[in-house]
Amino acid sequence: MTAVDRIAIYPGSFDPVTLGHEDIARRGLGLADRVIVAVAHTATQSKKSLFSVEDRLRIMEEVFADNEGIECMSFQGLLVDFARSVGATMVIRGLRAVSDFEYEFQMALMNRALHPQLETVFLTPHQDYTFLSSSLVREVAGLGGDVSDFVSQPVLTQLATKRG
Ligand code: PNS
Repeated sequence: MTAVDRIAIYPGSFDPVTLGHEDIARRGLGLADRVIVAVAHTATQSKKSLFSVEDRLRIMEEVFADNEGIECMSFQGLLVDFARSVGATMVIRGLRAVSDFEYEFQMALMNRALHPQLETVFLTPHQDYTFLSSSLVREVAGLGGDVSDFVSQPVLTQLATKRG
């Protein structure tokens, strides 16, 4: 039998990537040989973005530079089509609280309807990050708050450029 790499996609908006996202991506390596952290050009819940997709990708590449097995990519269009194009069999999503559940459940079932072989797997982050979200980081940083406990240095550096 030939061993085939198990490829997982960890998709999201990652605007910006937080320590919670980093934690989930690294936990994903326990389930797959390769984890592709994938920034979507189209998000299901529309939000005003802070960073361009290109900037988010660059930041993530820096954040995960030392993590063997984790790659960063961006994708246009449907997640299921991207999954097919990279040979992924699994989608990883983080589940922080009950409030995440409905949105995640809807997306998982829609993705299953579109691509029945693609399994969605939910991982819970470290308890320190269950309250953390990119939108809160954007808001707190934008109002001059300290977010250094919640994001890595490359994110802090880029947030600083936004404050001018
Ligand atoms: O971090 P987010 O914004 O909660 O991530 C949502 C994301 C990007 C994973 C979702 O919107 C997505 O998969 N977008 C790609 C387009 C797509 O496939 N839409 C149908 C989802 S059922």
